[in-house]
Amino acid sequence: MSLMGFLDRIADVSTFDKAIEPARKAVQAVLKPGVLKDALHGTWLGHPLHPVLVQVPVGSWTSAGLLDAVPPLRPAATVLIATGVAVSVPAAMSGAADWSEQEIGVQRLGALHALSNVAALGLYVGSLVARAKGRGTLGRVLSYTGLGIATGSAAIGGHMSYAQSSGASHAATAARALTSDWIDLGPLDDLPEGRPAMRTGDGSGVSVPLAAVRRGARVDVFVGSCSHLAGPLYEGSVEEVRGHACLVCPWHDSAFDLDNGEPRRGPAANPQEKLEVRMEAGRVMARLPARHQ
Ligand code: FES
Repeated sequence: MSLMGFLDRIADVSTFDKAIEPARKAVQAVLKPGVLKDALHGTWLGHPLHPVLVQVPVGSWTSAGLLDAVPPLRPAATVLIATGVAVSVPAAMSGAADWSEQEIGVQRLGALHALSNVAALGLYVGSLVARAKGRGTLGRVLSYTGLGIATGSAAIGGHMSYAQSSGASHAATAARALTSDWIDLGPLDDLPEGRPAMRTGDGSGVSVPLAAVRRGARVDVFVGSCSHLAGPLYEGSVEEVRGHACLVCPWHDSAFDLDNGEPRRGPAANPQEKLEVRMEAGRVMARLPARHQ
């Protein structure tokens, strides 16, 4: 069985769901919707924060493993291990914030990913203690064991991103199915004022749902699948969020700026794909931005 197949099997195992749900609720109780949680999601960055932060512990601990192999460089390895331990705390918080808003298959693998990381972190903390007490050999055994577990955990995290699309923009995926031609969305007067309406765009053999928002003579058109988990934005609402007029997703309340699609409230960290719009004889025409053509 391939590694992918093995991890997919784990994502199908429901045995531990009774433990996962309370854990998810506990994370949501500690990290309530608001500025801190959005900061951990990476909403301010327009990109998930977790994969950015994890570069530090992964890079530091891998480098420490190399330096530990060269006796004169071992003090530097200790500094790198301590750096990785320090940054793993905000990295874990951002991962937990994302995990609490994911579907169950991602949560199952995410729970295994988190437990592995806690084990690795414990081993690295133990390694620092051992090194501080002059027990260098034990310190290196603990840190190399931690590196092995952290590497396995990183593989799980990679599967969550690349195979389960956790953190990926679902709107960008939907946008790729659209034709690059101008799409006729019908008369301006048929669009309701101040709330999203569903329109469909031509894809390569499929209809792609779009969300069109009319405000007076202005129309903003977005790919209809939310960048977070593909929720139906055309069933959402228009709200003022943090000083910006936003299209709000009905599934998890992410808010996207009507002007540019930037996320103004999480859990979405990726922007929402926005189409170019022009009017033609009272009809709304929309087209995919050039970056997808
Ligand atoms: S699908 Fe989660 S906020 Fe839209």
